[in-house]
Amino acid sequence: MVQTLTVLGLESSCDDTAAAVVRQSDDTAAEVLSSVVYGQTELHSAFGGVVPEIAARAHAEKLDTCVMQALEAAGLGLADMDAIAVTAGPGLIGGVMSGVMCAKGISAATGLPLIGVNHLAGHALTPRLTDGIAFPYLMLLVSGGHCQYLIAHGPEQFTRLGGTIDDAPGEAFDKTARLLGLPQPGGPSVEVEARTGDPKRFRFPRPLLDRPGCDLSFSGLKTALMRMRDQIVAEKGGLTRQDRADLCAGFQQAIVDTLAEKTRRAIDLYLLEGPAEAVVSVAGGVAANTAIRTALESICAEKGARFTAPPLALCTDNAAMIAYAGIERFRTGARDDLTLTARPRWPLDQTSPAMLGSGKKGAKA
Ligand code: KG4
Ligand code: ZN
Repeated sequence: MVQTLTVLGLESSCDDTAAAVVRQSDDTAAEVLSSVVYGQTELHSAFGGVVPEIAARAHAEKLDTCVMQALEAAGLGLADMDAIAVTAGPGLIGGVMSGVMCAKGISAATGLPLIGVNHLAGHALTPRLTDGIAFPYLMLLVSGGHCQYLIAHGPEQFTRLGGTIDDAPGEAFDKTARLLGLPQPGGPSVEVEARTGDPKRFRFPRPLLDRPGCDLSFSGLKTALMRMRDQIVAEKGGLTRQDRADLCAGFQQAIVDTLAEKTRRAIDLYLLEGPAEAVVSVAGGVAANTAIRTALESICAEKGARFTAPPLALCTDNAAMIAYAGIERFRTGARDDLTLTARPRWPLDQTSPAMLGSGKKGAKA
Protein backbone atom coordinates (compact mmCIF):
# COMPACT_ATOMS: atom_id res chain seq x y z
CA MET A 1 0.00 0.00 0.00
CA VAL A 2 1.29 3.44 -0.89
CA GLN A 3 1.99 5.50 2.21
CA THR A 4 2.00 9.28 1.90
CA LEU A 5 3.99 10.98 4.63
CA THR A 6 3.98 14.67 5.46
CA VAL A 7 6.69 15.71 7.87
CA LEU A 8 7.57 18.97 9.60
CA GLY A 9 11.35 19.48 9.89
CA LEU A 10 13.30 21.78 12.23
CA GLU A 11 16.93 22.86 11.90
CA SER A 12 18.91 24.98 14.38
CA SER A 13 22.36 23.39 14.65
CA CYS A 14 24.37 26.40 13.55
CA ASP A 15 23.41 29.93 12.51
CA ASP A 16 20.25 29.27 10.49
CA THR A 17 16.85 28.80 12.12
CA ALA A 18 14.73 26.79 9.72
CA ALA A 19 11.44 24.94 9.42
CA ALA A 20 10.00 23.10 6.43
CA VAL A 21 7.25 20.75 5.36
CA VAL A 22 8.06 17.88 3.00
CA ARG A 23 5.65 15.32 1.60
CA GLN A 24 6.34 12.03 -0.12
CA SER A 25 4.32 9.07 -1.28
CA ASP A 26 6.55 6.03 -1.23
CA ASP A 27 6.20 5.58 -4.98
CA THR A 28 6.84 9.19 -6.01
CA ALA A 29 9.40 11.96 -5.72
CA ALA A 30 9.40 13.99 -2.52
CA GLU A 31 7.92 17.48 -2.62
CA VAL A 32 9.11 20.46 -0.59
CA LEU A 33 5.81 22.12 0.38
CA SER A 34 7.56 24.94 2.25
CA SER A 35 11.02 25.86 3.48
CA VAL A 36 11.63 28.85 5.72
CA VAL A 37 15.16 29.88 6.73
CA TYR A 38 16.16 32.74 9.03
CA GLY A 39 19.90 33.43 8.87
CA GLN A 40 21.71 35.08 11.77
CA THR A 41 24.60 36.67 9.86
CA GLU A 42 24.04 40.20 11.23
CA LEU A 43 23.82 38.99 14.81
CA HIS A 44 27.31 37.54 14.63
CA SER A 45 29.01 39.87 12.15
CA ALA A 46 30.68 42.05 14.79
CA PHE A 47 32.35 39.01 16.38
CA GLY A 48 34.11 37.48 13.37
CA GLY A 49 32.36 34.13 13.81
CA VAL A 50 29.26 32.45 15.20
CA VAL A 51 28.80 33.13 18.95
CA PRO A 52 27.12 29.98 20.34
CA GLU A 53 25.12 31.73 23.11
CA ILE A 54 23.78 34.39 20.74
CA ALA A 55 22.91 31.69 18.19
CA ALA A 56 21.06 29.56 20.76
CA ARG A 57 19.01 32.50 22.04
CA ALA A 58 18.12 33.60 18.52
CA HIS A 59 17.01 30.06 17.62
CA ALA A 60 14.84 29.86 20.73
CA GLU A 61 13.23 33.20 19.84
CA LYS A 62 12.64 32.41 16.17
CA LEU A 63 11.71 28.73 16.04
CA ASP A 64 7.99 29.05 16.77
CA THR A 65 7.55 31.84 14.18
CA CYS A 66 9.50 29.73 11.72
CA VAL A 67 7.27 26.68 12.32
CA MET A 68 4.10 28.74 11.94
CA GLN A 69 5.36 30.28 8.70
CA ALA A 70 6.37 26.91 7.28
CA LEU A 71 2.94 25.44 8.05
CA GLU A 72 1.18 28.48 6.65
CA ALA A 73 3.25 28.47 3.46
CA ALA A 74 2.43 24.78 3.00
CA GLY A 75 -1.26 25.54 3.60
CA LEU A 76 -1.35 22.89 6.33
CA GLY A 77 -1.64 22.60 10.10
CA LEU A 78 0.01 20.38 12.68
CA ALA A 79 -2.95 18.00 12.40
CA ASP A 80 -1.91 17.29 8.78
CA MET A 81 1.60 16.15 9.82
CA ASP A 82 2.58 12.52 10.25
CA ALA A 83 5.71 13.27 12.25
CA ILE A 84 8.10 15.96 13.37
CA ALA A 85 11.79 15.65 12.49
CA VAL A 86 14.47 17.69 14.19
CA THR A 87 18.24 18.05 13.93
CA ALA A 88 19.55 16.35 17.07
CA GLY A 89 23.22 16.97 16.21
CA PRO A 90 26.02 17.44 15.39
CA GLY A 91 26.36 21.17 15.90
CA LEU A 92 26.47 23.94 18.46
CA ILE A 93 24.86 22.37 21.50
CA GLY A 94 22.71 25.35 22.56
CA GLY A 95 21.19 25.64 19.09
CA VAL A 96 20.60 21.91 18.75
CA MET A 97 18.94 21.90 22.19
CA SER A 98 16.64 24.78 21.19
CA GLY A 99 15.39 22.79 18.20
CA VAL A 100 15.08 19.52 20.09
CA MET A 101 13.13 21.19 22.92
CA CYS A 102 10.81 22.90 20.44
CA ALA A 103 10.17 19.61 18.61
CA LYS A 104 9.59 17.76 21.88
CA GLY A 105 7.08 20.42 22.93
CA ILE A 106 5.14 20.03 19.67
CA SER A 107 5.33 16.26 19.90
CA ALA A 108 4.12 16.22 23.52
CA ALA A 109 1.27 18.61 22.74
CA THR A 110 0.07 16.89 19.55
CA GLY A 111 1.13 13.29 19.95
CA LEU A 112 3.10 13.49 16.66
CA PRO A 113 5.94 10.96 16.47
CA LEU A 114 9.34 12.57 17.03
CA ILE A 115 12.33 11.72 14.83
CA GLY A 116 15.85 12.90 15.63
CA VAL A 117 17.93 13.52 12.52
CA ASN A 118 21.69 13.76 12.05
CA HIS A 119 22.35 17.11 10.36
CA LEU A 120 25.02 15.57 8.13
CA ALA A 121 22.58 12.84 7.07
CA GLY A 122 20.22 15.65 6.09
CA HIS A 123 22.86 17.07 3.74
CA ALA A 124 23.91 13.64 2.54
CA LEU A 125 20.36 12.50 1.68
CA THR A 126 19.46 15.70 -0.21
CA PRO A 127 20.24 14.19 -3.67
CA ARG A 128 17.43 11.70 -2.97
CA LEU A 129 15.06 14.51 -2.05
CA THR A 130 15.87 16.57 -5.14
CA ASP A 131 16.71 13.93 -7.76
CA GLY A 132 15.57 10.58 -6.35
CA ILE A 133 19.15 9.24 -6.57
CA ALA A 134 19.45 5.53 -5.71
CA PHE A 135 21.90 4.15 -3.14
CA PRO A 136 24.86 3.81 -3.23
CA TYR A 137 26.14 7.22 -4.32
CA LEU A 138 29.18 9.31 -3.46
CA MET A 139 28.67 12.52 -1.59
CA LEU A 140 31.04 15.43 -1.02
CA LEU A 141 29.95 17.76 1.78
CA VAL A 142 31.75 21.09 1.48
CA SER A 143 30.66 24.01 3.61
CA GLY A 144 31.85 26.38 6.31
CA GLY A 145 31.52 23.63 8.90
CA HIS A 146 31.92 20.35 7.05
CA CYS A 147 34.18 18.68 4.55
CA GLN A 148 33.95 14.97 3.98
CA TYR A 149 33.53 12.25 1.37
CA LEU A 150 30.77 9.76 2.14
CA ILE A 151 29.36 6.77 0.35
CA ALA A 152 25.64 6.72 1.12
CA HIS A 153 24.41 3.11 1.31
CA GLY A 154 21.11 3.72 3.10
CA PRO A 155 19.22 6.32 5.17
CA GLU A 156 21.51 5.64 8.12
CA GLN A 157 24.38 3.78 6.49
CA PHE A 158 27.32 5.89 5.42
CA THR A 159 30.97 5.09 4.85
CA ARG A 160 33.31 7.99 5.41
CA LEU A 161 36.21 7.87 2.96
CA GLY A 162 38.00 10.93 4.34
CA GLY A 163 37.58 14.52 5.36
CA THR A 164 39.36 17.60 6.57
CA ILE A 165 41.73 17.23 9.47
CA ASP A 166 41.45 20.93 10.34
CA ASP A 167 39.46 23.75 8.65
CA ALA A 168 36.54 23.25 6.29
CA PRO A 169 36.97 24.88 2.84
CA GLY A 170 34.26 27.49 3.45
CA GLU A 171 36.02 28.44 6.64
CA ALA A 172 39.27 28.85 4.68
CA PHE A 173 37.46 31.11 2.18
CA ASP A 174 35.99 33.15 5.05
CA LYS A 175 39.38 33.56 6.78
CA THR A 176 41.03 34.50 3.49
CA ALA A 177 38.42 37.19 2.90
CA ARG A 178 39.01 38.54 6.40
CA LEU A 179 42.79 38.65 5.86
CA LEU A 180 42.27 40.60 2.64
CA GLY A 181 39.59 42.95 3.96
CA LEU A 182 36.86 41.46 1.75
CA PRO A 183 33.24 41.15 2.93
CA GLN A 184 31.74 38.05 4.60
CA PRO A 185 30.74 35.41 3.72
CA GLY A 186 34.18 35.05 2.21
CA GLY A 187 33.44 32.41 -0.44
CA PRO A 188 31.52 34.60 -2.90
CA SER A 189 33.79 37.65 -2.41
CA VAL A 190 37.00 35.64 -2.89
CA GLU A 191 35.49 33.96 -5.95
CA VAL A 192 34.65 37.32 -7.54
CA GLU A 193 38.18 38.67 -6.90
CA ALA A 194 39.74 35.46 -8.22
CA ARG A 195 38.09 35.99 -11.62
CA THR A 196 40.46 38.82 -12.45
CA GLY A 197 43.52 37.28 -10.78
CA ASP A 198 46.47 35.22 -11.97
CA PRO A 199 46.39 31.86 -10.14
CA LYS A 200 50.05 31.21 -10.98
CA ARG A 201 51.63 34.34 -9.50
CA PHE A 202 51.74 33.00 -5.92
CA ARG A 203 52.68 29.43 -5.10
CA PHE A 204 50.22 28.02 -2.58
CA PRO A 205 50.73 24.55 -1.09
CA ARG A 206 48.56 21.59 -2.14
CA PRO A 207 48.10 20.08 1.35
CA LEU A 208 48.12 16.29 1.86
CA LEU A 209 48.32 15.50 -1.87
CA ASP A 210 51.57 13.68 -1.21
CA ARG A 211 49.79 11.33 1.18
CA PRO A 212 47.48 8.48 0.14
CA GLY A 213 43.77 8.57 0.95
CA CYS A 214 41.00 11.14 0.89
CA ASP A 215 41.81 13.29 3.92
CA LEU A 216 42.17 17.02 3.36
CA SER A 217 43.73 19.97 5.16
CA PHE A 218 43.01 23.65 4.53
CA SER A 219 44.42 25.52 7.51
CA GLY A 220 47.89 25.88 5.95
CA LEU A 221 46.46 27.84 3.02
CA LYS A 222 45.43 30.83 5.09
CA THR A 223 48.80 30.83 6.87
CA ALA A 224 50.53 30.83 3.47
CA LEU A 225 48.26 33.63 2.31
CA MET A 226 48.95 35.69 5.43
CA ARG A 227 52.69 35.36 4.87
CA MET A 228 52.39 36.40 1.21
CA ARG A 229 50.16 39.34 2.12
CA ASP A 230 52.55 40.51 4.85
CA GLN A 231 55.51 40.27 2.49
CA ILE A 232 53.80 42.44 -0.14
CA VAL A 233 52.79 44.96 2.52
CA ALA A 234 56.38 45.03 3.87
CA GLU A 235 57.79 45.56 0.35
CA LYS A 236 55.23 47.95 -1.14
CA GLY A 237 53.40 49.39 1.85
CA GLY A 238 50.03 47.92 0.84
CA LEU A 239 48.09 45.68 -1.52
CA THR A 240 46.95 46.77 -4.95
CA ARG A 241 43.68 45.51 -6.41
CA GLN A 242 45.69 43.18 -8.64
CA ASP A 243 47.70 41.80 -5.69
CA ARG A 244 44.46 40.95 -3.94
CA ALA A 245 42.95 39.35 -7.04
CA ASP A 246 46.12 37.29 -7.62
CA LEU A 247 46.15 36.10 -3.99
CA CYS A 248 42.48 35.09 -4.25
CA ALA A 249 43.05 33.29 -7.56
CA GLY A 250 46.08 31.39 -6.21
CA PHE A 251 44.25 30.42 -3.02
CA GLN A 252 41.12 29.28 -4.87
CA GLN A 253 43.17 27.28 -7.37
CA ALA A 254 44.88 25.44 -4.50
CA ILE A 255 41.46 24.46 -3.11
CA VAL A 256 40.22 23.42 -6.57
CA ASP A 257 43.32 21.27 -7.24
CA THR A 258 43.19 19.64 -3.81
CA LEU A 259 39.48 18.84 -4.00
CA ALA A 260 39.90 17.61 -7.59
CA GLU A 261 42.60 15.09 -6.74
CA LYS A 262 40.89 13.85 -3.56
CA THR A 263 37.60 13.52 -5.46
CA ARG A 264 39.36 11.37 -8.08
CA ARG A 265 40.55 9.07 -5.31
CA ALA A 266 37.13 8.99 -3.62
CA ILE A 267 35.45 8.09 -6.94
CA ASP A 268 37.93 5.23 -7.47
CA LEU A 269 37.06 3.84 -4.03
CA TYR A 270 33.34 4.29 -4.67
CA LEU A 271 33.50 2.55 -8.06
CA LEU A 272 34.90 -0.55 -6.32
CA GLU A 273 31.38 -0.98 -4.90
CA GLY A 274 30.11 -1.56 -8.45
CA PRO A 275 27.10 0.82 -8.38
CA ALA A 276 24.53 0.19 -11.16
CA GLU A 277 24.77 3.88 -12.04
CA ALA A 278 27.72 5.83 -10.61
CA VAL A 279 26.50 9.13 -9.16
CA VAL A 280 28.50 11.81 -7.40
CA SER A 281 26.74 14.58 -5.56
CA VAL A 282 27.78 17.62 -3.62
CA ALA A 283 26.22 19.69 -0.82
CA GLY A 284 27.17 22.68 1.32
CA GLY A 285 27.63 26.36 0.56
CA VAL A 286 31.01 25.88 -1.13
CA ALA A 287 29.23 23.90 -3.86
CA ALA A 288 28.17 27.34 -5.15
CA ASN A 289 31.74 28.01 -6.29
CA THR A 290 31.86 27.82 -10.09
CA ALA A 291 35.55 26.85 -10.32
CA ILE A 292 35.06 24.01 -7.82
CA ARG A 293 31.87 22.84 -9.47
CA THR A 294 33.42 22.87 -12.94
CA ALA A 295 36.40 20.85 -11.69
CA LEU A 296 34.12 18.28 -10.03
CA GLU A 297 32.01 18.02 -13.17
CA SER A 298 34.99 17.34 -15.38
CA ILE A 299 36.40 14.71 -12.99
CA CYS A 300 33.04 12.94 -12.97
CA ALA A 301 33.00 13.01 -16.78
CA GLU A 302 36.56 11.61 -16.80
CA LYS A 303 35.53 8.76 -14.46
CA GLY A 304 32.20 8.04 -16.18
CA ALA A 305 30.08 9.12 -13.21
CA ARG A 306 26.99 11.31 -13.27
CA PHE A 307 27.39 14.59 -11.37
CA THR A 308 24.44 16.12 -9.60
CA ALA A 309 24.17 19.11 -7.29
CA PRO A 310 20.99 20.15 -5.46
CA PRO A 311 19.80 23.74 -5.97
CA LEU A 312 21.78 26.08 -3.75
CA ALA A 313 18.92 26.71 -1.30
CA LEU A 314 18.94 23.00 -0.51
CA CYS A 315 22.76 22.76 -0.49
CA THR A 316 23.10 25.22 2.39
CA ASP A 317 21.55 24.66 5.82
CA ASN A 318 17.78 24.23 5.61
CA ALA A 319 15.00 22.22 7.26
CA ALA A 320 13.64 20.54 4.11
CA MET A 321 16.63 18.20 4.19
CA ILE A 322 15.85 17.42 7.85
CA ALA A 323 12.18 16.74 7.13
CA TYR A 324 13.19 14.50 4.22
CA ALA A 325 15.80 12.59 6.28
CA GLY A 326 13.02 12.23 8.87
CA ILE A 327 10.77 10.65 6.22
CA GLU A 328 13.51 8.19 5.31
CA ARG A 329 14.04 7.25 8.98
CA PHE A 330 10.28 7.04 9.57
CA ARG A 331 9.95 4.55 6.72
CA THR A 332 12.56 2.33 8.37
CA GLY A 333 10.36 2.25 11.47
CA ALA A 334 12.65 4.50 13.52
CA ARG A 335 10.96 6.60 16.22
CA ASP A 336 12.36 8.72 19.02
CA ASP A 337 10.63 9.92 22.15
CA LEU A 338 11.01 12.59 24.81
CA THR A 339 14.33 11.05 25.89
CA LEU A 340 15.90 12.25 22.57
CA THR A 341 19.12 14.11 23.41
CA ALA A 342 21.01 16.86 21.59
CA ARG A 343 24.47 15.70 20.50
CA PRO A 344 27.28 18.17 19.75
CA ARG A 345 29.26 15.40 18.03
CA TRP A 346 27.62 12.68 16.01
CA PRO A 347 29.74 11.11 13.27
CA LEU A 348 27.71 9.64 10.43
CA ASP A 349 30.06 6.74 10.07
CA GLN A 350 30.40 5.31 13.57
CA THR A 351 33.30 3.14 12.46
CA SER A 352 35.61 5.96 11.38
CA PRO A 353 37.71 7.92 13.89
CA ALA A 354 36.36 11.24 15.21
CA MET A 355 37.50 14.32 13.32
CA LEU A 356 39.47 16.77 15.38
CA GLY A 357 38.93 19.90 13.28
CA SER A 358 36.60 22.25 15.08
CA GLY A 359 35.61 24.65 12.32
CA LYS A 360 34.25 28.17 12.70
CA LYS A 361 30.86 26.83 13.56
CA GLY A 362 32.03 24.63 16.43
CA ALA A 363 32.99 21.02 16.70
CA LYS A 364 31.45 18.90 14.02
CA ALA A 365 31.75 15.20 13.52
O1 KG4 B 1 26.47 25.35 3.88
P1 KG4 B 1 26.65 26.73 4.38
O2 KG4 B 1 25.60 27.76 4.09
O3 KG4 B 1 26.80 26.75 5.94
C1 KG4 B 1 27.63 25.93 6.65
O4 KG4 B 1 28.82 26.24 6.70
O5 KG4 B 1 27.12 24.94 7.23
O6 KG4 B 1 28.05 27.20 3.81
C2 KG4 B 1 28.55 28.50 4.05
C3 KG4 B 1 29.97 28.53 3.58
C4 KG4 B 1 30.65 29.83 3.94
O7 KG4 B 1 31.89 29.52 4.55
C5 KG4 B 1 30.82 30.51 2.60
O8 KG4 B 1 31.97 31.34 2.53
C6 KG4 B 1 30.93 29.35 1.66
O9 KG4 B 1 30.01 28.41 2.15
N1 KG4 B 1 30.58 29.74 0.30
C7 KG4 B 1 31.44 29.70 -0.75
C8 KG4 B 1 30.75 30.26 -1.86
N2 KG4 B 1 29.50 30.60 -1.45
C9 KG4 B 1 29.40 30.28 -0.13
N3 KG4 B 1 32.71 29.28 -0.82
C10 KG4 B 1 33.32 29.38 -2.02
N4 KG4 B 1 32.75 29.92 -3.11
C11 KG4 B 1 31.49 30.37 -3.09
N5 KG4 B 1 30.93 30.89 -4.18
ZN1 ZN C 1 25.25 22.09 7.33
